Amino acid sequence: MRIGVPRELEPGERRVALVPDAVSRLGTGGFEVFVEPGAGAAASFPDKAYAEAGADISNSPWEADGVVKVRKPSAEEVGRLRDGQLLVGFLEPLTDHQGIERLAERGVHAFAMESIPRITRAQPMDALSSQATVSGYKAVLLAAERLPRFFPMLMTAAGTVAPAKVLVLGAGVAGLQAIATAHRLGAVVAGFDVRPVVKEQVESLGATFLDLGILGEETAGGYARELTEEEQRRQQDALEGRIPEYDVVITTALVPGRAAPRLIPAGAVAGMRPGSVIVDLAAEAGGNCELTQPGEIVERESVTLVGLTNVPSTMPYHASQLYARNVSALLQHLAPEGELALDWEDEITAGACVTREQAAA
Ligand code: NAI
Repeated sequence: MRIGVPRELEPGERRVALVPDAVSRLGTGGFEVFVEPGAGAAASFPDKAYAEAGADISNSPWEADGVVKVRKPSAEEVGRLRDGQLLVGFLEPLTDHQGIERLAERGVHAFAMESIPRITRAQPMDALSSQATVSGYKAVLLAAERLPRFFPMLMTAAGTVAPAKVLVLGAGVAGLQAIATAHRLGAVVAGFDVRPVVKEQVESLGATFLDLGILGEETAGGYARELTEEEQRRQQDALEGRIPEYDVVITTALVPGRAAPRLIPAGAVAGMRPGSVIVDLAAEAGGNCELTQPGEIVERESVTLVGLTNVPSTMPYHASQLYARNVSALLQHLAPEGELALDWEDEITAGACVTREQAAA
């Protein structure tokens, strides 16, 4: 099966769907890979490395039997797809209905990385988790760089420096990674989540669990359910009282397909010490903080608010390496002998597929 890897066109996107190491592994599994010139350059993977791994450097990756991408294709790119072709990427199935409609019209077998079921067997394909790992780690570095204080406690001849206090809201994959990273840097860390199962995970990373007296439930897929309006209001009130204790707040709270829950009202920001930092990893879904400006770093009430979107793309080498493993695992699942063999009874195949070939639809 021929797989095409086009250059990502989304402004600011530096990741690539397959890295050379994945190309050579796919090569032994019956896949031929066609990489557009420069596709991996922004992630520090030169064409030469792809060629050495056995890829063809090609100007026509869209002609392959399957196309693998990081971001969803633009309308122009969708125009290059044909009936029965395979497409894999972050296709935003819960929010970009028009984009999915366009793919359906082309008759492509489109597989959305976001829709891979969260079951043990599918873990190697779980790109939401791999990219959240990158975001959680990087969020701490973004905060540390902007905080006018040390993270660790220091005892020096010039006196003792107290450690920074970090609060992580939302302790899923990104949040737990942020907790671990902030702890490694020496901060005193607390975590909070509405899913009760998380308390133990937070504590096992050396952090304390912030008890706000609000706990929701976990849905079947392991996600949080959306809080009721009353619960949200109680959560905001409780947080408003606690947030001023912290130098850094990293927020990662998300509910799939919905706007990010509002956790930090403007009043809580105003209560923080000057120089404090909020990193809002939910910025892409509107933000967990009322004052977040998605895509920007702003200062409000003497607090720095980091609302960068697409944080994984700021660490494109490892983000791509992990993503490429997820994509390769999915390709091997869909085409075990190097030829597409779609089993619609299979939970992963059926779950991740968002549009099908017209003959199969
Ligand atoms: P996510 O990115 O959808 O959400 C991030 C976190 O925000 C979650 O922990 C969620 O509980 C929390 N959250 C939502 N609303 C909140 C609120 N109002 N206040 C505070 N926190 C709030 O979730 P993520 O990180 O992608 O995964 C969540 C969980 O899914 C994991 O911790 C795990 O249990 C499960 N999972 C299972 C996998 C599997 O293969 N079995 C793989 C990956 C995740």
